[in-house]
Amino acid sequence: CLWVRNLRLKRRLPGPFAWPVVGNAMQLGQMPHITFSRLAKKYGNVYQIRLGGNDIVVLNGDKAIREALIEHSTEFAGRPDFVSFQAVSGGNSMTFSSYSKQWKMHRKIAQSTLRAFSSANSQTKRAFEGHVVGEATELVGIFHSLSAEGRYFNPGNALTVAAANVICALCFGKRYGHEDEEFKTLLGRVEKFGETVGAGSLVDVMPWLRSFPNPVRTIFLDFLDLNRQYFDFIQRKVVADRETFNPEVTRGMSDAIIGVIEAEGNTGLTEAHTESTVSDLIGAGLDTISTALHWNCLLLAKYPDIQTQLQETIDREVGRDRLPTMEDRSALAYLDAFTYETMRYISYVPVTIPHSTTSDVTVDGLLILKDTVVFVNQSSVNHDPLTWKDPHVFDPSRFLDEDGRLDKDLTNNVMIFSAGKRRCIGDQIAKVELFLFLAILIHQCHFEKNPSQDLHLNYTYGLTLKPLDYKISAKLRGESLIGT
Ligand code: HEM
Repeated sequence: CLWVRNLRLKRRLPGPFAWPVVGNAMQLGQMPHITFSRLAKKYGNVYQIRLGGNDIVVLNGDKAIREALIEHSTEFAGRPDFVSFQAVSGGNSMTFSSYSKQWKMHRKIAQSTLRAFSSANSQTKRAFEGHVVGEATELVGIFHSLSAEGRYFNPGNALTVAAANVICALCFGKRYGHEDEEFKTLLGRVEKFGETVGAGSLVDVMPWLRSFPNPVRTIFLDFLDLNRQYFDFIQRKVVADRETFNPEVTRGMSDAIIGVIEAEGNTGLTEAHTESTVSDLIGAGLDTISTALHWNCLLLAKYPDIQTQLQETIDREVGRDRLPTMEDRSALAYLDAFTYETMRYISYVPVTIPHSTTSDVTVDGLLILKDTVVFVNQSSVNHDPLTWKDPHVFDPSRFLDEDGRLDKDLTNNVMIFSAGKRRCIGDQIAKVELFLFLAILIHQCHFEKNPSQDLHLNYTYGLTLKPLDYKISAKLRGESLIGT
């Protein structure tokens, strides 16, 4: 019968021996994405591991991942029904809910609102870029004062506030000061979010660990508390917007979403979905961008020759008497190359948010059953030796053609925004943000490492990889164009 056939085929999925109770949990180590790539060498690009009570399929390498996420996009569009996922955005997160008609509507609204406030026309583009330029110039001043009297500093907190301010400005039409204590405390905790929802976290696959004191339970309770505090903060802002809503004046994405979901009211979504959409967008838009910038600052200080080449390119194309703008982008291919190489080399979102299958599906000739949890190892695509020459060398110039232009075929091979129905909806605004932040920071600052300390690239694992503590200085390059 079908059941027996499936069971037999299911057993045929290759994978390491799984121990009773824990399965392969003890083999994941500190860097699960590296373990996943190592296992792929032994078992192939599609294999199965067991974590606690869950069979999980791990997808690796360019070919298998694109076959699954693009050719079988609907089958791989689900999310597992993890307890931790239900704690996000008041229980109504779009990002963390599974594939359904309602989810499609929810995603469509989030996506079109984001577009309307970042790239719909030249006016919205200019407004969005203005927010980024404002935050980047403020950062220059902050970095300058943190480097005063030969001091070295960690840029992490300032970068998180800057990235949060861009997305808050888009949502609410206003930013928060770097000195706003409630905002800063909240952002300090958001960093912990990815520990629980990243692939390989044990919170959801070993539910019994939540019932007695142990480190996994501590992380989970902290996760619940931080989600509550974060959502409460966002909800208060949306409620205030709802109370003062005026269809004639749209202050930000929060108003626009209130307009579509609540004022027009034919989407099947509710007030709770308005709040969760805003919460999803702010959460997704701040941790990823600040993590990317964090790595960029570290790499600039670690590779002074690359930094010099970037500074020379920007000085040549832009000059020293104005700041870089988006119009300079096509002339600054080397800067885009640096951004793509950081995405590829560090792969700071190494594995996507866990997926689940919405029906039985075959990938690389192997049957994967409906409702299977799937980990998509993006970092394996970025280090696939079939695609990349010397994948373990950091070299931005690999993305430039003989004429010094960005090689689009190669940049398309980098996978950090995922693919298919769950592909990141913020990819375009992320690229604009990263370009403007970096162009302005590199034009204005020179990053240096502390000579008494070696800069390593160690990190903590989670949904995003966070660089371990390091310190740099950011000296102003000549006469500043910014009133610091
Ligand atoms: C989802 C990467 C910036 C909004 C994702 C996913 C990844 C990702 C890997 C999960 C895809 C999957 O599960 O297959 C990144 C990176 C960014 C970035 C690397 C920056 C460098 C942003 C920004 C926003 C955003 C700026 C919005 C303001 C979202 C949303 C989802 C998502 C809403 C959920 C999509 C869904 O589940 O359907 N992103 N992201 N992201 N991202 Fe981004």
